[in-house]
Amino acid sequence: MPDAHEIEKAIKLLRLGEVVGIPTETVYGLAARIDIPRAIEQIFKSKERPFFDPLIVHVASIEQAQKLTSQWGVVAQALAEDFWPGPLTMILPKSDEINPMITSGLESVGIRMPKHPMALEVIRELGVPLAAPSANKFGRTSPTSAFHVWNEFKDENIFVLDGGECEVGIESTVLLVKETSIFTDLSILRKGYVLASDIQKSLLKRKIDFHFVESVSKKESPGHMKHHYMPAIPLIVCENKELMGDELLVEINQRLNQLPDEIESVKILKPINGVKSYALLDLALDPVVAAREFYSELRRLGEGNFDCIVFYKEEYQRGDYWDSLFDRLNKAASLIIP
Ligand code: TXA
Ligand code: MG
Repeated sequence: MPDAHEIEKAIKLLRLGEVVGIPTETVYGLAARIDIPRAIEQIFKSKERPFFDPLIVHVASIEQAQKLTSQWGVVAQALAEDFWPGPLTMILPKSDEINPMITSGLESVGIRMPKHPMALEVIRELGVPLAAPSANKFGRTSPTSAFHVWNEFKDENIFVLDGGECEVGIESTVLLVKETSIFTDLSILRKGYVLASDIQKSLLKRKIDFHFVESVSKKESPGHMKHHYMPAIPLIVCENKELMGDELLVEINQRLNQLPDEIESVKILKPINGVKSYALLDLALDPVVAAREFYSELRRLGEGNFDCIVFYKEEYQRGDYWDSLFDRLNKAASLIIP
């Protein structure tokens, strides 16, 4: 059972303008009240996150979400009813209640209602939505337990509300919603547990007309980085199962040497003395279970005595849920060996 005392402590600290680690069903968030600019600034500082990458705002009710937007149409209402609380973030036109620091100056805001009861209770009690990115340093592996957050920010002594291990394990689906009286364009900016087919079913059921639009500009999706979620040691995705042992190590070292030190502000890891050993990342057969375990496995293997982590891609790992997981896996990888 959630500890009422711990929840009270989180609320008290948030009221004072502190940042607090909170559990959600996807990953842990590093949260602050949206109405205290100093606290929002602290999120960016603690995460070492560039100010161009906007934060998601977490609400406890649809009414709260409506106040954050300048336009809440039938599509937003339908998707909120069907998927909230849950792992769907909608990007909608923002209202004046949103500090531009949260949205990195964009005219849109990302909003979701998390499913974790402790997160909902904190937001409800506080009466103010919480801005919360995933509680990891910029570019690094997302946290799926309270310990991960505590460990990532141990120098800063951040209070973390322990809500157990995250059920979904990868971040929410991010959906850009452009709704006018004439058309609705939807773009998935980040894949997740809520699939395009789920969204399609929800809207078709209500006879709402819409289109999925594939590509959006970098301006509309500033968080779209080539690399992200990187573990403490390089992750190598190997698509060639014949390549193993010393032959694989030679290939990895050659390819790592050719990489730049940094790509789009994200540091690429290269062991100074080269790579001499590797740990194998083994994922569950069920993609939903695999996603739940993925980030904590990256952390666990990253803390062992290996120089890198190798993941062999398998033929059976196909389909929408695997696609969502591979979005993270490919970005977490320093190298993909065909
Ligand atoms: O599951 C989740 O979404 C977790 C938990 C804590 O809720 N949060 C999370 O936040 O993953 P973060 O900051 O790590 O990722 C948010 C993503 C970023 O890629 C950001 O660029 C994008 O959402 N985003 C936020 N607001 C946006 C906006 N107004 N327009 C476009 N993209 C936006
Ligand atoms: Mg993140």
